[in-house]
Amino acid sequence: MPLIYETIITSLDANGQPHIAPFGIREEQGLVLIAPFRPSASLDNLLHHRAAVVNLTDDVRVFAGVLTGRREWPLKPAQKMQGVVLESALAHRELELVEIREHEVRPELLFRVVHEVQHQPFRGFNRAQAAVIELAVLVSRLHMLPMEKIDAEIAYLNIAIEKTAGERELQAWQWLIECIENHKAATDSGNMA
Ligand SMILES: Cc1cc2nc3c(=O)[nH]c(=O)nc-3n(C[C@H](O)[C@H](O)[C@H](O)COP(=O)(O)O)c2cc1C
Repeated sequence: MPLIYETIITSLDANGQPHIAPFGIREEQGLVLIAPFRPSASLDNLLHHRAAVVNLTDDVRVFAGVLTGRREWPLKPAQKMQGVVLESALAHRELELVEIREHEVRPELLFRVVHEVQHQPFRGFNRAQAAVIELAVLVSRLHMLPMEKIDAEIAYLNIAIEKTAGERELQAWQWLIECIENHKAATDSGNMA
């Protein structure tokens, strides 16, 4: 199995407007591999500008926020290319697209690292942050998963939240739980109609 890091990819649309989305990235022979499922605004942007920024952040509110409609996060300009960097990034990498492996469902985009900056030190692993990322992944697949699986995962992941969360992690967790509750309510009322 490949080693995957969960990151925030920032890109620009055709009009230069920033777009933020969580993506798992892999490394392959020194290149960064991003594999977006179609359709994806990020995919369109990455193909249009042939550029992306990988942001490594421990502010899990960005992951949970983007998935729950909170897309306004502080950004600053990239240093060596046209693009934007998350203010909260501990580190970022500026990327240039060098290869596309076409696929109907999930193309693979390979990027060369043009520039890399360390902004803040890594502070260590936090279980609540990992729990938020896990729940965020489930929320991004909410329409495909049975609700019993989601409820069981929440019960387990909540242990890490209760034991190790700070304010940012609690906020992020709450946004995801609200989103799941809304999805449940919408599904239930759909079933009753
Ligand atoms: C931690 C995490 C990792 C994700 N990784 C991927 C990925 O590798 N490919 C993908 O298509 N979507 C991934 N997603 C879901 C996308 O972030 C989500 O669908 C997003 O809206 C991308 O669509 P957009 O480019 O249209 O904004 C991930 C979500 C999370 C929370």
